[in-house]
Amino acid sequence: MEKRIIALSCSPSRGRNSDTLLDEFIQGANSISCTTIEKIYLDEIPIDYYRHDNQHGPHEHEVKFRELVEKIESANGLVIATPTYNFSVPAHLKNFIDRIRFLGLDLTQKNMFGQPVGKMSDLYLYFIVTGGTPSWAQKILFFAFPPFWLRGVFLYYGAKVIGALYTGNIRAFTNTRIRKTAYNHGRKYARRIEKEMGTHILEKIFWRPPQVE
Ligand SMILES: Cc1cc2nc3c(=O)[nH]c(=O)nc-3n(C[C@H](O)[C@H](O)[C@H](O)COP(=O)(O)O)c2cc1C
Repeated sequence: MEKRIIALSCSPSRGRNSDTLLDEFIQGANSISCTTIEKIYLDEIPIDYYRHDNQHGPHEHEVKFRELVEKIESANGLVIATPTYNFSVPAHLKNFIDRIRFLGLDLTQKNMFGQPVGKMSDLYLYFIVTGGTPSWAQKILFFAFPPFWLRGVFLYYGAKVIGALYTGNIRAFTNTRIRKTAYNHGRKYARRIEKEMGTHILEKIFWRPPQVE
């Protein structure tokens, strides 16, 4: 059966590092025949900041946001490509992740540890992250970079987190080797979705702290 993937490009800078690596990743994923992948620029989608009164989903005027939510709901995979901004992600990506909390968590149910139950168990996640910090330093300080945080959030949302590609090369968009790596990661990711493979043991035991609503 055909697998559908949504690829979110979250850098405001078109054609630069994360956007270019996402294009390579998409080409790699597209080389797997039963995959269709749609690229969307997140900053083209107006999304209000999270408020208590919009916690359950998009409001009527958030037409494009609703469309995106519906696409994600019916997708098998979600790829997020983002730069590192101040040890985190651009504000519009952070806001998007806050706003889709209703999609990720069932706050009416609790597991045996009192934690809300994640609802994204059918969604395969992958992250492409670019930064100015060299990759070797990011490996040591992994907990201070977006791949770690993104993984934590989406595991909390119950998703299948497949992996992340980080590069600290600020001219990654011109680097053939890194572009090729992104292409190969796209291929592998699509294969895993195609075969409906599960996640590794570390994802299964990821500690989810309790959260009170
Ligand atoms: C506002 C801003 C904040 C940044 N903060 C960090 C940071 O905390 N850590 C880091 O490694 N790189 C940081 N960078 C560098 C970018 O992550 C890096 O240039 C990245 O490759 C840009 O990706 P893009 O071309 O896809 O936009 C920052 C860049 C900007 C513009």
